[in-house]
Amino acid sequence: MKFFVDTADVEEIRDLAATGLLDGVTTNPSLVAKSGRDVFEVLAEICDLVEGPVSGEVTAIEHDGMVTEGRRLRDIADNVMVKVPLTWEGLKACRTLNQAGIQVNVTLCFSPTQALFAAKAGATVVSPFVGRLDDISQDGMALIQDIRTIFDNYEPLTTEILVASIRHPMHVVEAARIGADICTVPPQVMRSLASHPLTDKGLDAFLADWGRTGQNILEQ
Ligand code: E4P
Repeated sequence: MKFFVDTADVEEIRDLAATGLLDGVTTNPSLVAKSGRDVFEVLAEICDLVEGPVSGEVTAIEHDGMVTEGRRLRDIADNVMVKVPLTWEGLKACRTLNQAGIQVNVTLCFSPTQALFAAKAGATVVSPFVGRLDDISQDGMALIQDIRTIFDNYEPLTTEILVASIRHPMHVVEAARIGADICTVPPQVMRSLASHPLTDKGLDAFLADWGRTGQNILEQ
């Protein structure tokens, strides 16, 4: 499974990219607003830091505006993936951008039929939002399972499932069990995926025992 980080915070991305574990980045208008940065500047910096796809979202809501904005965003760097919303206009824009050879992330997906339409419109990835479904007492991971089953039923569909709106590590575990292609994860959740209290406790005990020997590996 591929890991993307869901942020427009360049310092977080720089640090996470240094692990070699980062396969891409997703941003959205709210995350760019939170960064306080100019959208073109911040996306250009992120694209320099990460080899994989960097999603930048259009803010127009009609086909022509989305396509024009998408082309402008794609001019920033070759690894920009244009994000369009899962609306009727967004599906049309997805088709146009895809036909122009531009990678498209169709976002704000909340149902299996929306995902199927995104795939048929030529989406490179579709982004179902699991956390926002859980927030309204619907089962976000059941949507991922439904989309996986449907996409696997139809071999010509090559759209990847990008699990978005992830809130905690169990979302990632479930997504991996189901066979989702990508998880986009907030930085703090990304870090928590590598942590375990027994790792910390075990390391403390090893170092305490080692300290009592008085030995130093570099001075033996
Ligand atoms: C994905 O591309 C979105 O930016 C993101 O996952 C939304 O997550 P949220 O529901 O936590 O805002």
